[in-house]
Amino acid sequence: MKEDIARVRLSYGRAIAKRGFLERFYNVFLSSDSGIAKKFANTDLDKQQELLAMSVNMVILFPQENKIAKNAVSRIRTSHGSSELAIEPRFFDLWRESLILAVSEHDPEFDAELEVSWQKVLQIAIDYIREGY
Ligand code: HEM
Repeated sequence: MKEDIARVRLSYGRAIAKRGFLERFYNVFLSSDSGIAKKFANTDLDKQQELLAMSVNMVILFPQENKIAKNAVSRIRTSHGSSELAIEPRFFDLWRESLILAVSEHDPEFDAELEVSWQKVLQIAIDYIREGY
């Protein structure tokens, strides 16, 4: 897992350095289910992109028992749970797939092996957030 995290961190760094990466993620994610677009109907997506950029780092560091990441992901677990934003658990698979698609298009070193690392790393925080629903 340590290796996977290291590779994913570098991949994320390469992807986010490219113009249009976060915008592409939101385009894919919001069009993947009408229920998702509805949730973001009143959201300032420019601001949301900044929050996302930071929180993906926290999601990546979460499996390493990083304290700051643990706090950040715990907050997201609460805010996305049934008594706050009420994000349906199934939407998290679309979130993961949209992010990986955007990374695959923006990281020039992306390959099948790296995709497996991304899947593994993201799944841990996603499972934790979903359990909080
Ligand atoms: C691991 C995956 C996700 C991460 C890291 C994440 C991260 C965040 C963060 C950092 C915020 C800012 C407010 C807060 O701290 O709670 C936020 C807000 C929000 N997220 Fe997520 N999110 C994830 C998955 C999702 C999914 C699957 C949906 C599905 C629709 C979603 C919908 C929203 C909405 C509607 C807001 C509020 C936007 C607003 O303020 O108008 N998120 N998310």
